[in-house]
Amino acid sequence: MKLISGTSNVELARGIADVLDVPLTSVDIERFRDQEIFIKINENVRGEDIFLIQPTSAPANDHLMELLVMIDALVRASAKRITAVVPYYGYARQDRKTGGRTPISAKLVANLISKAGADRVLTIDLHAGQIQGFFDIPTDNLFGQPVFETDIRDLFSSADRDQLMFVSPDTGGVVRTRSLAKRFGADIAIVDKRRPKAGEAEVMNIIGDVAGRSCILLDDIIDSGGTLCNAAKALKDQGANSVSAYITHGVLSDPAVERISNSELKEVVITDTIAQPEKVKKCERIREVSVAKLLGEAIRRIANDESVSKLFG
Ligand code: R5P
Repeated sequence: MKLISGTSNVELARGIADVLDVPLTSVDIERFRDQEIFIKINENVRGEDIFLIQPTSAPANDHLMELLVMIDALVRASAKRITAVVPYYGYARQDRKTGGRTPISAKLVANLISKAGADRVLTIDLHAGQIQGFFDIPTDNLFGQPVFETDIRDLFSSADRDQLMFVSPDTGGVVRTRSLAKRFGADIAIVDKRRPKAGEAEVMNIIGDVAGRSCILLDDIIDSGGTLCNAAKALKDQGANSVSAYITHGVLSDPAVERISNSELKEVVITDTIAQPEKVKKCERIREVSVAKLLGEAIRRIANDESVSKLFG
């Protein structure tokens, strides 16, 4: 097997390489003056099982194009199998037509990755599980849940766990929330969220009695932070003891960091699917847990034709 990283999250790629004890393959990634991308793989990859690590986080279009160009270089270099490891799948939120004359960009991106020559895709917590069906190649959608479960068990003593309540910030996240709550034998609550317009989140109601409980919000993405910060305020207003959040993908567009710092959220735990700038790393209320081990183990299993679902059994 060979591991290759694009430029979008080299730290995570190094973490995966450490877990697998496989070095990252040397590659030159350059930009022409007009910003076209040029790739040169510096090692022989003929007949190799390649895992190409490149989340398509911001700048999403550059990182996506880099992924496609790298796949093309690998195909032309006669790699045997190419797995696009895309821990954060950008454009996933555009998974259906939201109105007349609008695109389904999540499907377009799936087409681009397949057409470029990827044989498989490996990702984590797709915004909607159905996006797997947008690919006509095998797609493994891992769950960040085990990483969060371990962290929560470390953080809350068994006595404190009785007070836990897992909260879905919208109806779309109920299945994910119920699944983690079950692992703790805990209750769930649901936030009835509306979006009056794109980028704005408004809490209408809280379904469930959260008074006196330690609430944990679960979501796949934190972008502007509106959803989570508004949910945290509503939960506190309803008497929650504390509110923290576990989110797989820290998109964290401005002004998310400021919003979190001034919010009712005690802590926001994100994973390292997306590389974070200093501003996020310095924020005392944001903590990062790594998915390198999870991805490394999944890659090892794919390379050895072992079950990936056993990871979550
Ligand atoms: C929406 O369905 C997603 O799961 C997230 O809740 C949403 O993307 C978060 O966006 P923001 O942080 O901008 O409210």
